[in-house]
Amino acid sequence: MASSSSLPRSILVVGSGGREHALVRALLASPAAPRIICAPGNAGIAVEVPCVPVAADDIRALLALVQREKIEFVVVGPEVPLSLGLADRLRELSIPVYGPGADGARLEASKIFTKEILLKYNIPTAPAAFFEEAAPAIAYLRTRPAPIVVKADGLAAGKGVIVAPTHAEAESAVHQLLALPDQSKIENRKSKILLEDCLFGEETSILVVVSGRDYVILPTSQDHKRIGDGDTGPNTGGMGTYSPAEVVTPELLARIENEIVRPSVNAIADEGIAFCGTLFVGIMLTPTGPSVIEYNTRFGDPETQVVLPRLATDLLALLWAAALGKLPSVGPLAVKPDYAVCVVIAARGYPDAYAKGDVITLPSPTALPPATTIYHAGTTTNATGQLVTNGGRVLGVTALGDTLEEARARAYEACAAISFKDAHYRKDIGLKGLVAPQAASPE
Ligand code: AMP
Ligand code: GLY
Repeated sequence: MASSSSLPRSILVVGSGGREHALVRALLASPAAPRIICAPGNAGIAVEVPCVPVAADDIRALLALVQREKIEFVVVGPEVPLSLGLADRLRELSIPVYGPGADGARLEASKIFTKEILLKYNIPTAPAAFFEEAAPAIAYLRTRPAPIVVKADGLAAGKGVIVAPTHAEAESAVHQLLALPDQSKIENRKSKILLEDCLFGEETSILVVVSGRDYVILPTSQDHKRIGDGDTGPNTGGMGTYSPAEVVTPELLARIENEIVRPSVNAIADEGIAFCGTLFVGIMLTPTGPSVIEYNTRFGDPETQVVLPRLATDLLALLWAAALGKLPSVGPLAVKPDYAVCVVIAARGYPDAYAKGDVITLPSPTALPPATTIYHAGTTTNATGQLVTNGGRVLGVTALGDTLEEARARAYEACAAISFKDAHYRKDIGLKGLVAPQAASPE
């Protein structure tokens, strides 16, 4: 492993969510004791490190900030600056960065690009077809079994995927998504959609630190994407996570590595993409085996809030080695035996329009249950210095425990002590992890 003397002394973390709060916390814990700044950050991150009011998609201003602050290493949280080429510009300036260039970010920004790679390299994924016009799309979907998944091609902030239970709903989704403007901002092109067979099973998020053909698989986790308990209601950015995802047994993880992770990393390299960053593989564990739902090219949110607290390896050494092309020097990942649960507290209305500016009351850090952290996501301070809501997902409460039950109990105890107007959260985060092994084990 890199000695702390060779690690960077000044770091910029780009982004403003719970993921970035978790990244800042984990990087601050490095023995290298780096100076960290965050752009733009949020009210919770600002308690820990200086935050600079530069938007995560303002590439010119971020580059100026890096030069002004003599930043030695940049860690990029969200997908949009990656798609806009932030990492490419930094590499042109010889500033190490953790996060792929715009070519790698296309794996998240274009679902069609990804599907083409998955199919070309025989990586397990649902059968699919791509369309620009409604009539052939509708003719195709009538040949497929319902439910049918209709996806917009470009980045659509979590709104671009519709799992349509019936053919009629799939048809209306086709019309709706073909009318969406392409938000990838990369090229001004016609909307395209992807029609995909529906996969059934448990989902898991596999986060992989990638540097060229080298990779390190981070601890497994499971997100809860729907807004409501029991996986009901619309999809969100993620309402809570737990780690490890015990449904991913060591045997299954070996299969995921052999059939999905290694072929994906090699396929990306074979396509000429020098990928450095997180490859987040969304996987459906179907009865016939693991199948890729999507790639993201960044840390997951709120996966990061349960994965990073479980790492015993120094995150800074890991990401820095990846950025320098020296990932094998880090050695095997050290993971704590603890379980982790993160419960997201959202503003009323989320994932649709939601209120901002409501005053948040937090328990004092000393009143929190043991091993419990409140990560801020959509928070800011108002003109009178009060902590207020500023996003749909407002806070993420992560707790560690010796068991999943203990981690859940701690996280929910802390949630009960947090208040803002119409705050709501799912009550069943991590329950899947409790139910599945019990059902499978003999009396
Ligand atoms: P994506 O934006 O591709 O991550 O999709 C968002 C969510 O839609 C996924 O996390 C799944 O819950 C669901 N989804 C996407 N594709 C499929 C599929 N082929 N079968 C079933 N569910 C899907
Ligand atoms: N939690 C899912 C995501 O980060 O895309």
